[in-house]
Amino acid sequence: MLGNFSYKNATKLYFGDDSLKYLNDEFPKYGKNVQLIYGGGSIKKNGIYDQVVEILKANGKNVIEDAGVMPNPTVEKLLEGIKIARENQVDLLLAVGGGSCCDYAKAVSVSVNCDEDPWEKYYIRFEEPSCEIVPVGCILTMAGTGSEMNAGSVITNHEQKLKIGHVFGEEVMPKFSILNPKFTFSLPKRQMVAGIYDIFNHICEQYFSGEDDNTSDYLAEALMKSVVHSSLIAIENPEDYEARSNIMWTATWALNTLIAKGKTTDWMVHMLGQAAGAYTDATHGMTLSAVSLPYYRYIMPYGIKKFVRFATEVWDVCTDGKTDEQVAEEGLAAMENWMKKIGVAMSLSELGATEDMIDGITEATLILEGGYKVLTKDEVREILKKSL
Ligand code: NZQ
Ligand code: ZN
Repeated sequence: MLGNFSYKNATKLYFGDDSLKYLNDEFPKYGKNVQLIYGGGSIKKNGIYDQVVEILKANGKNVIEDAGVMPNPTVEKLLEGIKIARENQVDLLLAVGGGSCCDYAKAVSVSVNCDEDPWEKYYIRFEEPSCEIVPVGCILTMAGTGSEMNAGSVITNHEQKLKIGHVFGEEVMPKFSILNPKFTFSLPKRQMVAGIYDIFNHICEQYFSGEDDNTSDYLAEALMKSVVHSSLIAIENPEDYEARSNIMWTATWALNTLIAKGKTTDWMVHMLGQAAGAYTDATHGMTLSAVSLPYYRYIMPYGIKKFVRFATEVWDVCTDGKTDEQVAEEGLAAMENWMKKIGVAMSLSELGATEDMIDGITEATLILEGGYKVLTKDEVREILKKSL
């Protein structure tokens, strides 16, 4: 049965190869001081930085630089960003980059006017903001996380060896996001495919749960087919606008809260991947690909009907003369072939994880209850060992 829910998405999107110009519509809505958040410098190399700064200046903004947001942003960097925002009394946090910049901007947004330790408050105690939130805008340069249209924010604490995401309420979603598929053309192939797998897995996390007839599952299948199709074109020709634009749009729909409505969700691949990420600092999408097959093969018997549906609807597996188990396994084998074809990491050891980290990663894995099987810590350990 479709469960009860409310639905609102608070982010205004501007999509397309001319979308940057819509900053001129958005900037007048905010005050003068804009904290320009970006990463390690890719936006300077590909020219996006200059274009954005020109529009900021034309709109009479004071540009306050906040560079160096690393992939998997850290709690130390978050504290630095909060300090910059406070000292400059910023009116808008403008993230230009991938999920890391966008997540970081949200974390700063809920912390600027809050006296408490943001790590403890939001990422350990999972409290909601009780202070004024500074608005966030996003100019996306990498498709994958969906951060451009959701309220998720993932922060890494290397000292505590924890990588934790908080999904805030709609008030934390970016007020606007600019999605220009051409901005993703300069991504290194490894990052492109990590993003593609991230998209695919976001859909899986919301698909492999429940046994009811839910519209969200049909939407999920369509999104999965689209991302698989476009990925095969994009790895051959990264500048294929049609493929890259479909990938960008799919990423947004994969995690903008819609396909989770009215159903339970799993998210255990992300919990395993994030814990592995806390130990290896590896690229997010790659941590997911490394643990996915051992996880899905393990839970398959508990959700066999959905795995059969996955095989037939997404991978066109023929059922003639086969048991449900054979069909389900063929579906996962098809997924494995696709993963190898696009070139994602197939094991945690490729990402620098070692046997002696397994106990720690097991400990750092949060166990969630929405999927087909609530794992025990021993099962987590076994899946991680198989992922090595
Ligand atoms: O630092 P710069 O120079 O920007 O380089 C980045 C970075 O090295 C580079 N890059 C991005 N766009 C580029 C580019 N290089 C060349 N050309 C471009 N156009 O790519 C690298 C990775 O960027 P990053 O932002 O880290 O990647 P992604 O978008 O995958 O974000 C990862 C973070 O988002 C979190 C992850 O855990 C991780 O911390 N997630 C956020 C979610 C959410 N908000 O809902 C959900 C996800 O499941 C995920 O957990
Ligand atoms: Zn993800």
